[in-house]
Amino acid sequence: MCGIMGYAGSLNSQKIILTGLSRLEYRGYDSAGISYQENGSLQLVKKEGKLVNLENAISKIKIKSRIGIGHTRWATHGKVNDTNAHPHQNEEFSIVHNGIIENANQLREFLQTNGHKFKSETDSEVFLELLSYHYKQNQNIQSSIFKAYNEIEGNSAFVIMQKDSHKLYAIKRSAPIVCGLKQNEKEVFVSSDPYALMGQVDNLYFPEDGVLIVADYLSSKRLIFLEENETPSSRFKLQKKELNEEIISKGNFDHFMHKEIHEQPLLVSSLVEHFKKDYKDIPDDLFKGVRVVHLVSCGTALYAGMVIKNFIEARSDVKVLWDFASEFRYKNHRFSTEEVALFISQSGETADTLACQEICKEHGLKTYSIVNVEGSTLFRNCDYNFLSYAGTEIGVASTKAFTQQVLVGHFLTLLFLRQLDYEKVALDFKKLASAMNKILDEEDKIKQVAQKIYNYKGFIFTGRGIQFPIALEGALKLKEIAYVHAEGYAAGELKHGPIALIDENMVNIAIITPDLYKKTYSNAQEVKARKGKMVVIGDESNKELEELADYFIGLELTEDLKVFEPLVTNLVLQLLSYNIAKLKGTDIDKPRNLAKSVTVE
Ligand code: M6R
Repeated sequence: MCGIMGYAGSLNSQKIILTGLSRLEYRGYDSAGISYQENGSLQLVKKEGKLVNLENAISKIKIKSRIGIGHTRWATHGKVNDTNAHPHQNEEFSIVHNGIIENANQLREFLQTNGHKFKSETDSEVFLELLSYHYKQNQNIQSSIFKAYNEIEGNSAFVIMQKDSHKLYAIKRSAPIVCGLKQNEKEVFVSSDPYALMGQVDNLYFPEDGVLIVADYLSSKRLIFLEENETPSSRFKLQKKELNEEIISKGNFDHFMHKEIHEQPLLVSSLVEHFKKDYKDIPDDLFKGVRVVHLVSCGTALYAGMVIKNFIEARSDVKVLWDFASEFRYKNHRFSTEEVALFISQSGETADTLACQEICKEHGLKTYSIVNVEGSTLFRNCDYNFLSYAGTEIGVASTKAFTQQVLVGHFLTLLFLRQLDYEKVALDFKKLASAMNKILDEEDKIKQVAQKIYNYKGFIFTGRGIQFPIALEGALKLKEIAYVHAEGYAAGELKHGPIALIDENMVNIAIITPDLYKKTYSNAQEVKARKGKMVVIGDESNKELEELADYFIGLELTEDLKVFEPLVTNLVLQLLSYNIAKLKGTDIDKPRNLAKSVTVE
């Protein structure tokens, strides 16, 4: 949530910061701003709304600056407007912030009684004034940052710039910060996300909590890491990975989401090669003695986990207990030595998920992740990671990440059961990829269904067993990008309440696959009897389903694809949501009120 970008170097900072922000905009797009040094003083431009508003404002000014910081905001404290946009600036400092200061109100009161004036309603400005308060007393920026940092509560990351200085400072607590540089180049970068630094750096540094980064492009070291007593710190990780400039374009697609949906067959086909490379030396005792797996995640990642629960429990006597990370973290836990925890996350930066990983670690549990972003906080904190190789996912609505998470879960299940046969997995994935390609080739059929139903006000997605998480995921996708009310239900639960909603204005998207067929079919009939509009997704050769449906989306469901049926039906739902949202004209890649990584709790 919120994107941070800072640059100091021999080039014009404004262009570099704007490029970084354009890659970070998916983290928040309520407002954007930039602050830079010019002739020894701090300048500020910030605008409510998408980055383009800031770009337009900046295009009217000629900026020649070597150092600056920028921010894209996902609002937490204070309305969405120019004033609450970041950076926040006073005579001495300019800061950008990602996170929440939990004791902001108390600190604001204290600062006000000490003569500090506030322009915005944000918690972030409290840090700015707190820093200034300490600086007034000791004139030492480094110790003032540490003092202010120690007085704030909650998870946050800050980048700080001082007037008339060629240095940037950054510090974080349980929120992401990465800095980077290129060999022999006089420049330094700092951001909330390595993605923003792609193509700009070849060394990435990930500091731990409470380490102060001093980025000084004029010094021979350029990046200095300090502990609180201002001695050098070794608490950071270096990733010497070449960050290739990816094709950060939509290609022939109108939206990143659509492009990402269409990338899935290729990603599926290449996953086994990644497995082979990564797990050559997998420890034999990786899952030794495991009886219970706590599966903890948020949103789409949790629904992927619920599919994985089905995989594991159907084939072993291991119990998988899933929970929302935001619930799990506040429960009273008692664990035994036979329990482990698995966290699933695209970004690896979701605040609640990270907090749960810490809790499990503190309780002595082994922690595993299925994570997409290598080097993310979750990746760094878990005992063992399984990368999901979805590539960069820009669309805020998660699509390809879900598919890859489920497939990694399938792989893990086989690994756990010691039934892993790479050739068989490769063949199965190939079949899945070709089934997905077929659906994508026939997207027009799904588009036609979207055209018929996009104006309805309410949608109930139903499925049973392994299709229940897909009903939840389908409903989540539709609400987040089409802004319509949609609920996912276990089909058998409808009669316990939600069926009261059914009339001719309600659409039931019923997933009726061969598993638990008769029961699910009966539930759909109950909806039909009450005049609900029926969209049925099921086996293409099933005439009974075709008759039941107002709109039938038939799929080739062969026995050898059985285990992957949830991914096939989910692909249909991804396309259906996408096409409904397109007809409604919503902002598909950046849906209102959302952000790609939710780094606040
Ligand atoms: O980065 P994560 O996978 O941890 O994110 C979890 C959720 O915030 C995320 O899946 C969210 O639900 C998506 N916007 C759904 O499309």
